[in-house]
Formats: sequence, structure tokens, C-alpha cells
Amino acid sequence: MIHYKTKAEIELMRESSLLVSKTLSEVAKLIKPGITTLHLNDVAEQFIRDNGGTPSFKGYQDYPFAACISVNDAVVHGFPTKNELKDGDIVSVDLGAYKNGFHGDSAYTFALGTIPEESQQLLRVTKESLYKGIEKAIAGNRVGDIAFAIQDYTEKQHGYGVVRELVGHGLGRHLHEDPQVPNYGKRGTGAKLKEGMVIAIEPMINLGTKDVYHDEDGWTIRTHDRKPSAHYEHNVCIQKNKADILSSFAEIEAAEKANPNLCSTYY
Ligand code: MF3
Ligand code: CO
Repeated sequence: MIHYKTKAEIELMRESSLLVSKTLSEVAKLIKPGITTLHLNDVAEQFIRDNGGTPSFKGYQDYPFAACISVNDAVVHGFPTKNELKDGDIVSVDLGAYKNGFHGDSAYTFALGTIPEESQQLLRVTKESLYKGIEKAIAGNRVGDIAFAIQDYTEKQHGYGVVRELVGHGLGRHLHEDPQVPNYGKRGTGAKLKEGMVIAIEPMINLGTKDVYHDEDGWTIRTHDRKPSAHYEHNVCIQKNKADILSSFAEIEAAEKANPNLCSTYY
């Protein structure tokens, strides 16, 4: 069942989504070689709590952390660890915040130091694919229009692997609501998009094969060929002519550019 949101509810959701964006920008300021992903998790959790939220992921289906931090061949749902990040790592940070009864849920992939041109392109194209999906997220279109736009750009035009096992989703009082929003599919198929729907669009794109496997920890999803993967996620509200993007990468990108430990040549 799809839950449509009122104007007032959308503004509450914007607050939750922007809290996640702000938290990701705090991560962008701190992230560097030598730091552990567990430290980034703890800073993120504290920041969410200091700003009146609670971490959406912690305790969700018994997930034990506030953040999913997925390094290199980890696609999503990576456990924060005591391992130190190093130059050349590709780090996807996925965070959720629950505030005023609604969830925000957003992700961003960072590149530490010097990374190969092909990985830089993966990040650029994955982020671009998110916006190509958002362009199709308007009333009257269908979920398949978003899915096709993402798959066509990443898989057909760039030869990347689109993960099939995990999808975007409706978002609201629950972290995962209907409809499912896959990153692959056919135009003109799937649920009809209507004003007041809020969805999380989240392309998970692999440099190599689309195939993934479950790590021994029971959560972390990794690429079968061990090549890197990228993940960007926005929350959008469906409207007539143009989606209202509730989350924002503006502060994250500013912090990314200002952080000398991050690769800034990919965008
Ligand atoms: N953004 C991810 C998703 O929508 C976060 C869920 S991870 C979990 O699936 F830990 F909360 F399960
Ligand atoms: Co999500």
C-alpha cells in the first residue's frame, strides 16, 4: 500500500532528509586515510541524536549500526569496522534519520586520495544516473520509467553492472514503504507515480559484473568479481512537472571539494 503525504508531512520529511544530508556532510569533512569506518559511524550517530533524530537503521531488522559504510567491493549494507581507511578506497556511506515521525534516507560515495580513472568515472556516472532517474520521477510516469533511465545510462551506455537484488523504495513513517523502485526495468511499467508520493531512488552500480554475494557477517553485500561499486541515494517527492528533491548533496559536495584527502577530479 502506498502512503501519500500531505504538504505538511512533506515539510517534516524534508527536515529528516536534510538532517541525513547534513550528517553526510559531517562525514565528508572528517573522512581521510587512517580513520576507521566505526569512528565515522559513531560521529554520524551522535550528530543525528544531537539534532533531535534517531538513526533509522540501528535496530532495523536487527542491523547493529547507525550507518552502512561499504568500502570498495562492498556494494551496500557494509558494517562499520575498526579497519583504517586508506588512500585509494571508495567509500559509500548510507544513513537514515528518524525525526518528527518520518525517516530520511540518503547515501553518497566518497573517493579517498588517488583513485584510477575508471573508478572516478564509475562515481560520476552513478551520480548522474541518479539525476536521470529523478528527471523521470514526475506524476503520470511509472516506476519503470525511473528504472529504465538508470539502467539505460549505466548498463547500456557505460557497460556497468546494475545490482538486481536491492532496490529503492517508498519512504515515510516507515523506512521502507511501497512501491519498490528498482534500478532496472521497462519504460511504462510498474506503479504509477502520483503527487504526494515520496520515494528513495538509489542506484547501486558496479564497475564490473552485476552479480553480488552476501558476506559472512550476514549483511555486507559484495561484488562477485571484487571490483568496486558506487551508491548514491536521494529522497524525492513526486509532483506535476519536476520532482522535489528533499535531500541535498550541496553541502556534501562543498565539504568534499574542501577536503584535501578526497579525490576532487571525478566530477
Ligand atoms: N538505504 C538502505 C535501504 O534503503 C538502508 C537500509 S540498511 C538497514 O535499504 F540497515 F537499515 F537495513
Ligand atoms: Co534506501
